Amino acid sequence: MKKKKLWGGRFLKPTEKVVEEFTESISFDKRLYKYDIAGSIAHAKMLGKIGVLKKREVTEIVIGLEYIRKEIEDGKFSFSIGLEDIHMNIEKRLTDKIGPSGAKLHTARSRNDQVALDLRLYLRDVIGDIISSVSEVKKALVDKARTNISVVMPGYTHMQPAQPVLFSHYLLAYREMLERDRERFADCLKRVNTMPLGSGAIAGTSFPLDREYVAKLLGFDRISENSMDAVSDRDFVIEFLSACAVLGMHLSRFSEDMIIWSTQEFSFIELPDAFCTGSSMMPQKKNPDILELVRGKTGRLYGNLVSLLTTMKGLPLTYNRDLQEDKEPLFDTIDTIMATLKLFPELVSGTTVKKEVTSRAASLGYMWATDVADYLVVKGVPFRTAHEITGKLVSRCIKSGREIRAISLSELKKFSDMIEKDIYDIISPEASVNIRCIGGGTATEMVLKRIREIEDNNL
Ligand code: ARG
Repeated sequence: MKKKKLWGGRFLKPTEKVVEEFTESISFDKRLYKYDIAGSIAHAKMLGKIGVLKKREVTEIVIGLEYIRKEIEDGKFSFSIGLEDIHMNIEKRLTDKIGPSGAKLHTARSRNDQVALDLRLYLRDVIGDIISSVSEVKKALVDKARTNISVVMPGYTHMQPAQPVLFSHYLLAYREMLERDRERFADCLKRVNTMPLGSGAIAGTSFPLDREYVAKLLGFDRISENSMDAVSDRDFVIEFLSACAVLGMHLSRFSEDMIIWSTQEFSFIELPDAFCTGSSMMPQKKNPDILELVRGKTGRLYGNLVSLLTTMKGLPLTYNRDLQEDKEPLFDTIDTIMATLKLFPELVSGTTVKKEVTSRAASLGYMWATDVADYLVVKGVPFRTAHEITGKLVSRCIKSGREIRAISLSELKKFSDMIEKDIYDIISPEASVNIRCIGGGTATEMVLKRIREIEDNNL
């Protein structure tokens, strides 16, 4: 005999097994159990407060739910796909355990507002975890920047040597990105922290629920203002997935830089052994697989975002079962981003920069060219003319296979009689870096100033 469904009153025939398998979500939404229970406890207490449940009934429900939480945590709870989802698995167990008061818990509530509540409670916790993990990575970047404050390296545009920069400046660029990520999550949290219970299935409820009281018990900032919106809104999940996609993109770009710089050809950095893997065939290999996986997994983060956007785009108001498809992409994104974030603090702190190599590379590639053009401008040459003159000088260097240092003053003067002996002072990578002493620029003084600002204000 098939067990009767909690919603089985109007049905004459039992559900097919294939249908149960197709519709179930318990296999993945069981991870919401803690939040489902917390929400139900608050709901029961509120029903007690307004006199819908007796004091004794509320106590039985609360004790019963706490017992179930323990059962789940001890691995003693048997989840059933016949009961579809986490909400009905818990409710059924409660009723089996405590009898009729358990069956009263669902008064003035629908799974539609219940699942919205659970997701919001869950995401609130997850966002807190993500924000603290992002802060750890930011801190590792700042620490690394401080210990390598004056290491110079080539800066690239179009992957071609552009201008010398400080390695510390480069690291702090990623810190800025991660700070924006943190802000995005904090902002998303504002909208997550809305309490939907009381919306019922779609239209609200006839019981005089104290929604503010539930919101207060569960630490929400506000209650939702429209029941139809509240049961069909997944904007907060989409915003979250989008913030994760952008964060993943940042970590992926960072990984890509590290991958390139750890090649024999660049050899700018040495990755920590513990974060690399070997080859089963080639004994000499030290592969940056971890970084490659960070880059690769970013595709999943994008996919999950697009998946939910696509699920939502054609849905008529209000709740439709399609909304159950929000969970797997969400959970996958959370697992992926958390696993990725966990790697980074140690990865950053364990990576060493080879400053002889980076500083030598920074002195090649004619990266002094902008400085020479600026030098001429200071001496009164219009910028476009200065650009032209410097271009010719670069061309001479390339043709004659010399760096600018090897060119005598008299030869330099043939390009412009404005050039004096002091030209040699501005053509080192260090001089090039330190002359860019402007807010947001790469000069040591400016980078140090930013580090101090970050550390003093706990940014
Ligand atoms: N498992 C469902 C979900 O995740 C819960 C809500 C079901 N509501 C319903 N009316 N069938 O969306």
